Amino acid sequence: MNIVTINGSPTGLQGSTGRLLAALADGAREAGAAVTLFELGTLTVKPCNSCRTCQQIGTCVINDDYTQIKAAMLAADGIVLASPNYISNVSAQMKALLDRCFSMFHCQMLHKKYGACVVASGGPLYQNVEEYLLHVVGNSGCWKVGSAATGGGMLDDSGEAPAVLKEARDLGRRLAEAIKTQQRFPEQEEEREQCFEMMRWLVEENKDKWPYEYEYWQTHWGKG
Ligand SMILES: Cc1cc2nc3c(=O)[nH]c(=O)nc-3n(C[C@H](O)[C@H](O)[C@H](O)COP(=O)(O)O)c2cc1C
Repeated sequence: MNIVTINGSPTGLQGSTGRLLAALADGAREAGAAVTLFELGTLTVKPCNSCRTCQQIGTCVINDDYTQIKAAMLAADGIVLASPNYISNVSAQMKALLDRCFSMFHCQMLHKKYGACVVASGGPLYQNVEEYLLHVVGNSGCWKVGSAATGGGMLDDSGEAPAVLKEARDLGRRLAEAIKTQQRFPEQEEEREQCFEMMRWLVEENKDKWPYEYEYWQTHWGKG
């Protein structure tokens, strides 16, 4: 069982995002998962240039660390996206990665994997960032296991920190257990189905412009 965690914070494991992510990874390891960490702060993932080559031939023209992150995501059973709240959104590092995943999401390549997310914020208004990351996890095709978030210096408060870190560790454990048992989440079924069929429709509508994606759908997901 293999979980890929991606830290979108440039402050690495010293920062609040990184500390929450490390607690999540501890929980996942306790439940038997192997956990791999990608630090976007030390790797290079440039922004998408909208050339659409990925949709036509399945590979990105930009030669950087996205290649290895994509391979790890495809091989993983679980994926964790972690980001700080930067101006009410994810960090630029995380957004660049998500944009580069464009064709992977169209093709629902992560369908049936499991996902979670982590957010750290200076203040208490981070709900939209958490919701956005979870939304992306769901639209990628993953089952949404949950999220862990912290704001307003909770991780620096010796009274609050143990509870927040425990929440993240519990999420890691739940993620690993969900993978182990191939858990289904009935309340997510309808939304997942709608997203999946919307992607199918989109790719079929554009089959002449996006031959790689059309071929991927035919090969992997059939006629529906
Ligand atoms: C560029 C930048 C933008 C930020 N924008 C916000 C914001 O809009 N709202 C907020 O509550 N905190 C904001 N913060 C504070 C960070 O969310 C907070 O310090 C968080 O803990 C950073 O994550 P890290 O500890 O992993 O580095 C911002 C910080 C930076 C550096």
